[in-house]
Amino acid sequence: MLDFLDKRVLFVMGKGGVGKSTVATALGIRATLEGKRTIICEVSASENTSRLFRQEEVGYREVELANDLWAISIDPDDSMREYVLLQLKVKAMRDLLFRSRMFTYLAEATPGLNELVTIGKVWELAQLDRKVRHGRKYDLVIVDAPATGHGITFLRTPRTFARIAKVGPMYNQANELDRMVTDHQTTGALIVSLPEEMPVNETATLEHELVNDIGVSVDRILVNAVYPDRFGEDELPAIEAVAGSSEALPRAAGRAGLSEVRRAVAQREQISRLEEMVSTPISLLPFVFDPELSLASARMLGEEIA
Ligand SMILES: Nc1ncnc2c1ncn2[C@@H]1O[C@H](COP(=O)(O)OP(=O)(O)OP(=O)(O)O)[C@@H](O)[C@H]1O
Ligand SMILES: [Mg+2]
Repeated sequence: MLDFLDKRVLFVMGKGGVGKSTVATALGIRATLEGKRTIICEVSASENTSRLFRQEEVGYREVELANDLWAISIDPDDSMREYVLLQLKVKAMRDLLFRSRMFTYLAEATPGLNELVTIGKVWELAQLDRKVRHGRKYDLVIVDAPATGHGITFLRTPRTFARIAKVGPMYNQANELDRMVTDHQTTGALIVSLPEEMPVNETATLEHELVNDIGVSVDRILVNAVYPDRFGEDELPAIEAVAGSSEALPRAAGRAGLSEVRRAVAQREQISRLEEMVSTPISLLPFVFDPELSLASARMLGEEIA
């Protein structure tokens, strides 16, 4: 049992291409296996999760991928529209706003507004008493955070808005979102990383910023795509001997083995460095040798998170 799966919101953070969407899906599957009704939120336009489940397209609707596993792609324009519909009770006022292209202007003129309404939607999804009509109740909301700035700007947005607004309804709502993000009981963040020098350094910085600047609880660091330890370092001389063979086949096999050992050794070194640099518990996720990541491998990765 993973204790952070008992939270209501988990942000999956990390830089572009490290495996955030893969981990979000793996965690989603894991959570449903532990009996949680789960929704995975994609914030960026890429729709990796739905592809894995062979769904058409997720879009701004809650779509069931598997039993108790749902997905939504949060679009800022749709979130804004929904928000206004929930806020403004006077129909004439809403019509006026929608017709006037007001949103587009507002969003373009206000940096961070898209992120704010996106976090607003995450908050809404996490409510047991959903604001939208016919909204389902979820035990866990997993957010596949945007890669820009490793997701840090995204999580900082509510506080930025609260500071700018100072008073009034905008202040109150931004503050409420900031409270959600920084509530260690209900919200956690996971950092996805790779066993390479730069990602390790960046993960340490990200952990520091999340914990010390934003105040969010970082529950786990997941080092993704770790090579298997097929050979020990002590076997290196033997493999080197094979790689130096005069016959073509053993030589090729030896060289392949050699490069894998070296890669695995380099990765272990980076993982040790990471352990020195961070205080968050680390889980290792194996490199999956499938040509394309399957549902079965996503499930396997979910089980690996111990
Ligand atoms: N453990 C793994 N083993 C092998 N391949 C992996 C593994 N994890 C992810 N990948 C592959 O790496 C690529 C990037 O993964 P993914 O899309 O999950 O990253 P991401 O962080 O969400 O990227 P982006 O920032 O572009 O959204 C994908 O092709 C995925 O299939
Ligand atoms: Mg992604």
